[in-house]
Amino acid sequence: MLSKNHVITLKAAAFLSLSILHGTGYAQKIPSLKDTFKKDFGIGTALNNAQIDERDPETTAFIVRQFNMATPENIMKSALIHPKWDTYNFEMADKLVAFGKKHNIKINGHTLVWHSQLPPFIRGIKSADSIRTFFTDHIKTVAGRYEGKVYSWDVVNEALNEDGTMRKSVFLQYLGDDFVTEAFRLAQQAAPKTELYYNDYNNEQPAKRAGCLALLKKVKEAGVRIDGVGIQGHWHVGRVPLKDIEESILQYSAMGLKVMFTELDIEVLPRNFQGADVGQRMAANAQSNPYPDALPDSVQQQLAADYEALFKLFLKHKDKVTRVTFWGVNDGDSWLNGWPVRGRTNYPLLFDRKNQPKPAFGKVIALKK
Ligand code: XIL
Repeated sequence: MLSKNHVITLKAAAFLSLSILHGTGYAQKIPSLKDTFKKDFGIGTALNNAQIDERDPETTAFIVRQFNMATPENIMKSALIHPKWDTYNFEMADKLVAFGKKHNIKINGHTLVWHSQLPPFIRGIKSADSIRTFFTDHIKTVAGRYEGKVYSWDVVNEALNEDGTMRKSVFLQYLGDDFVTEAFRLAQQAAPKTELYYNDYNNEQPAKRAGCLALLKKVKEAGVRIDGVGIQGHWHVGRVPLKDIEESILQYSAMGLKVMFTELDIEVLPRNFQGADVGQRMAANAQSNPYPDALPDSVQQQLAADYEALFKLFLKHKDKVTRVTFWGVNDGDSWLNGWPVRGRTNYPLLFDRKNQPKPAFGKVIALKK
């Protein structure tokens, strides 16, 4: 016969093993990406408000175990951090910095100059002087505040068109095509100890890459510091452009720049265009959300093969690639559930909606075994 104490002990043991299986204990048993690639490059993730706020301790523990670098998904964009002409809102960005400090995670500030997610007051500005004042104050204030607190900045994001020419943004329109050099010059003054990067999508594609190389060369030739280039890496399953990626790693690093993959995800749903222009949308139809319940095994295997090939390439050039950042912790967090079509069920990352490793994760980790 079991005594009352025995029953309690058994219950406690059952609870303990259950929490090991399903709670943070379980997460500890999954190999860690950041530890696996410790000697090769940093492993980052995008972080959203709930994650920065540490609303769920299990999620925090999971993030801290897997990643050693982080980029805010939205909160440092100008619309959020600089909502009115003379008003800044640093609350969440400060929390992010504290999160990084507490958990030993390096923060990449994202982003100082971008044509998208601008504060609404920008639309009312119709003079070059006012745009210049906004541009200068914004960079000085934000980069200055986080000097010594963030590891790096995406100083300029997405200044280029697909053909390598300059995008017709409000900055190009009012400040001319030297605005990129000017942005780096201001950032360098405000944040002399912080690494400064240019970031874009499709800048591994030959035409856009050529424009990107020319743009970054121009910054360097002006005697202005730029430390690295970010290739966002929003790719498509079965169509990851490995050759172009390798060429890009070689050409950018030949310019003396660090190369980073800054927003990695692999789209598995139908799409009629390539890239990550957030202004571009796609109409929903009967075929646009094909896997509402689960990813078919064939696609899962292709996704795994794609991630394996990518990480093989990153490892081959680990002397040039300094960071690989995923755009989201798990499939449920991904922006691709809402863009370019709202309300889809997407599967672009290494962890599923319950933070369980997918076959792609196993393949990536196995490269180091
Ligand atoms: C995305 C965010 O993930 C979304 O939450 C937001 O609604 C739009 O922006 N390129 C970038 C990122 O540089 O900042 C974008 O992030 C994705 C494309």
